[in-house]
Amino acid sequence: MIGVFDSGLGGLSVLAAISRALPTADLTYLADSAHLPYGAKPDEFIRGRVLAIGRHLAERGCGLLVVACNTATAAAVQALRDQHPDIPVVGIEPGIKPAAISSKTRHIAVLTTESTAQSARLTHLIDNHANGLKVQIVACPGWATRIESLDMEDPTFSDEVTAKIVPLLEQGVDRLVLGCTHYSFLLPLLEPLTAGRAELVDVAAAVARQVLRLSGLHARGTGRLTMLATARPERLHRAPQALGLSNLTCRLNSATHQVLI
Ligand code: DGL
Repeated sequence: MIGVFDSGLGGLSVLAAISRALPTADLTYLADSAHLPYGAKPDEFIRGRVLAIGRHLAERGCGLLVVACNTATAAAVQALRDQHPDIPVVGIEPGIKPAAISSKTRHIAVLTTESTAQSARLTHLIDNHANGLKVQIVACPGWATRIESLDMEDPTFSDEVTAKIVPLLEQGVDRLVLGCTHYSFLLPLLEPLTAGRAELVDVAAAVARQVLRLSGLHARGTGRLTMLATARPERLHRAPQALGLSNLTCRLNSATHQVLI
């Protein structure tokens, strides 16, 4: 069984890609909704959550763990690997490398949570892969919480998104890296703004390919999807349908339960 987790609904974008790549794997998704947003919390807190969730998923029988959260990966993926040396752990990091390789204007921007924006891991990623390009780190406080409410059409929010993105495009940014898994669900807002001017870079499919490479026997199951949340399980349960993730909706046969971790 493969365990995938995030602070909330954002990791469902990664889960959907994994579900497509591994149609018969048994998947467990855990949303730490009681502690969202991670992006506004100190590293030590995030590490504590990641280790507790890792332990819980391992006890449930997960033999491969996917940290479907850029913030948690930056703060705690190494601690999780140290805690479970026998379990492969796949993290997610903003797609600086593919964006830098393909940018024509040599100016890219990465949209992240506050925590990821300040992380040493992001600094290293940029140092190693930006290749002299201009990289703007753009923290987007409150966006993950807004996406969590599944009410992205609110005009105040779309104005806020527009006000953040348009100046970047005017400055010549031609690749916008989605550095938080929640932001994949902003495509309906972002695509009309960036059309013909910038490409959006999302690494969910690349993460799914890495999970496939490491999956071994975990790729072969019955295709079951179990979903768990530390709060508001009913919201997580309706999210795949609300977000148009039909490949998850059709795998989900059981109720989504609350877990106290
Ligand atoms: N989805 C998470 C990420 O990829 C973080 C959202 C949050 O809890 O702040 O960074």
